[in-house]
Amino acid sequence: MSISRRKFLQSSTAGMALALFGLSGKAESASGKKYPSLRIGNIRELKAGEPVQFNYPDSTSPCTLVMLNETAIGGVGTLRNVVAFSSLCPHMGCPVNYKSGRFVCGCHYSMFDAAKNGQTYQGLASQWLAQVTLRFDKASGNIYAEGVEGLLYGRISNLNIS
Ligand code: FES
Repeated sequence: MSISRRKFLQSSTAGMALALFGLSGKAESASGKKYPSLRIGNIRELKAGEPVQFNYPDSTSPCTLVMLNETAIGGVGTLRNVVAFSSLCPHMGCPVNYKSGRFVCGCHYSMFDAAKNGQTYQGLASQWLAQVTLRFDKASGNIYAEGVEGLLYGRISNLNIS
């Protein structure tokens, strides 16, 4: 069984945090909350390179859905080229904009590879761009957001605990 670098780093980081704070189990499930399943588009409505904005997992978290010109890690659709990411830079929360296969932050010019899990490859951001987990329904063409890999900027938990 293989494990992505992001998942490995997340699990080892989360494990260290849990050990430090004496907690057990998954942080997100500690509140009893689960990610919602939200229809965010249909593959027939997407055009390669033209991003679509949506909010997930709640109304205060802007995200971007985009069809790439290449197969992507975590991509859905018949060509596995549809991905979604948080629109907030992990460095200081400025908006990132999609351009030519990457997300670019206008504040300090961090760049994130949309085909490689939002990997940071330039700039000040030390974390990858949080990627929205997608599900594709082949019959209808609908695309659903169903989770987030990585921590959304400014949060201690992706699911607000109230
Ligand atoms: S806020 Fe994006 S690089 Fe600084």
